[in-house]
Amino acid sequence: MTQADNRPLPGRHETRWHIMSDQRALVTAVCTRILGSAASAIREQGVFRMVLAGGTTPAAVYMRLAEAATDWSCWQIFFGDERCLPADHPERNSVMAGGHWLQRVALPTANIHVIDAERGAEAAALAYVPVVEQALPFDLVLLGMGEDGHTASLFPGQRHAAGELVHAVHDAPKPPPDRVSLGRAALDNAAEVLVMVSGAGKHAAVELWKRGEDLPVAHIHGQTGVDVYIDKAAETGEVA
Ligand code: 6PG
Repeated sequence: MTQADNRPLPGRHETRWHIMSDQRALVTAVCTRILGSAASAIREQGVFRMVLAGGTTPAAVYMRLAEAATDWSCWQIFFGDERCLPADHPERNSVMAGGHWLQRVALPTANIHVIDAERGAEAAALAYVPVVEQALPFDLVLLGMGEDGHTASLFPGQRHAAGELVHAVHDAPKPPPDRVSLGRAALDNAAEVLVMVSGAGKHAAVELWKRGEDLPVAHIHGQTGVDVYIDKAAETGEVA
């Protein structure tokens, strides 16, 4: 987004670091942000379009959201990435989010837009493009970060066509090798972007990010910058 003279809006590329005492405090802060954003979006537009993170860090957030009081019928759920595994495989991001949260609340199944990654990366990526197109702009994108600075399934050293909304990913360094990922063009087209970083194992990537290294996670900003929720272990590298 830019102003009339094409200068980026203030804060467009701002990275706001929120240092949490521990993982529990990080989960509480992220849940509070998500529920606050949902309440505003539902009040103003009757719908809340959220992109989910995969991996293990968000599981505690999803479990906490399952206890929340909100109008689930107004939530529209999308996935930042998905692993090319059978639809019911325990390591699917959709299965993780479903088990911890989505299957435990009255969120209509039709509102949960799963990536059909079991069809293979190319077919699933192609099929998810119109799903993303009709959803943009997202209200909130939730992301994690890997120890190499990847986010969603956008990995260092892997190049994708600029402007592509959904990528077919192969040879991913984090198994499984075949994945589907939203691209920067989609992840950036969001009112808010929250990144959760927990654990000493992420410290090296955090330091590279802060030094301005060319990491996939560092390229996602959303329309108003990015909020990074990080616990002390990831911030200092010290295991509590
Ligand atoms: C995935 C995720 C991936 C994840 C990071 C962090 O499919 O693995 O989309 O991007 O968010 O790798 O994973 P952890 O939260 O497990 O550390």
